[in-house]
Amino acid sequence: MTDKINQIKQIALEHIKQAADSKALDDIRVRFLGKKGELTDLLKTLGTMSKEERPKFGALVNETKTFIENYLQQQLDTLKQAEMNKKLESEKIDVTLPGRIHRRGAIHPVKLVLDQMESIFLGMGFTIAQGPEIETDFNNFKAMNFQDDHPARDAQDTFYIENGKTLFRTHTSPVQARTMQLNAPNPIRVICPGRVFRRDDIDATHHVQFHQVEGLLVDKDVKLSDLKGILLEFVQKMFGADMKIRLRPSFFPFTEPSAEVDVSCIFCHGDGCSFCKQSGWIEVLGAGCVHPNVLRLGGYDPEVFSGWAFGIGVERIALLKYGINDIRYLTEGDVRFLEQFR
Ligand code: DAH
Repeated sequence: MTDKINQIKQIALEHIKQAADSKALDDIRVRFLGKKGELTDLLKTLGTMSKEERPKFGALVNETKTFIENYLQQQLDTLKQAEMNKKLESEKIDVTLPGRIHRRGAIHPVKLVLDQMESIFLGMGFTIAQGPEIETDFNNFKAMNFQDDHPARDAQDTFYIENGKTLFRTHTSPVQARTMQLNAPNPIRVICPGRVFRRDDIDATHHVQFHQVEGLLVDKDVKLSDLKGILLEFVQKMFGADMKIRLRPSFFPFTEPSAEVDVSCIFCHGDGCSFCKQSGWIEVLGAGCVHPNVLRLGGYDPEVFSGWAFGIGVERIALLKYGINDIRYLTEGDVRFLEQFR
């Protein structure tokens, strides 16, 4: 019987040594020490033994049980430690590695200029009005006093949709019409920033889409000198206190009289250089007094109300402000260009 016990013990130890994981060790525990285990079975033979043999045999079985038990536990600890070491090794991080660099974006120069323009005009008491980029022919042209045969209405100049009833707005002036229709007969003092579209060849100074900031003031006793003062204030805030402006007579269907507004050349400050073609002046916007027909179509009596308006090309201002010599840089998305505005 003692041999039998030793044999079981040897087999058990051999299995325990070869066990690859805790599950295998558990199976071994059941096989040898469990309720129906091989050692436990031996105890059932106690009844067939003599009085003297019994205690010795029982003690030996229990001793062997404890021995196997301890060896199992020791092996389990070793396996767990090995598993832990493996895990620690595979999850090791090197805290001395340099961090990942998140490249910071920059605000687009057109957005920078738009924001600054808005804040300058908001500071002078204007509020912001907006209109859709897809506009009716009526608001874009008719309400702005364009004749039916005006060349701007040609399909060559304008992106028409829906058989010419709607179009991609060619300027922000239709927001004047919308604002008047909404507010008549109350006074108006708004700017209308937004994107506009034209069919055009793209080159250094032309694009098929760009931005404008429209301005509109409608009230009683409106003075043209206020327009001039406000535009001078805008130009000086944008480019510097030494800037001058001049108004040259011009034509727009929606204003009468109309003017092109020039600013003193930002490069030569009026002395004359190649940029301003030796004139000392650069054209930056259009302006004028709101045409009586435009007032009337907007719901205002031109005998009682008058107004003035202006339209500024935002890209033009951005090119001048940042000394950019090609409008295409603004839409090409070249990171080397854009990151200069960080
Ligand atoms: N809408 C004109 C354009 O796109 C710009 C303009 C000129 C707007 C004179 C005005 C203005 O409000 O008074 O060329």
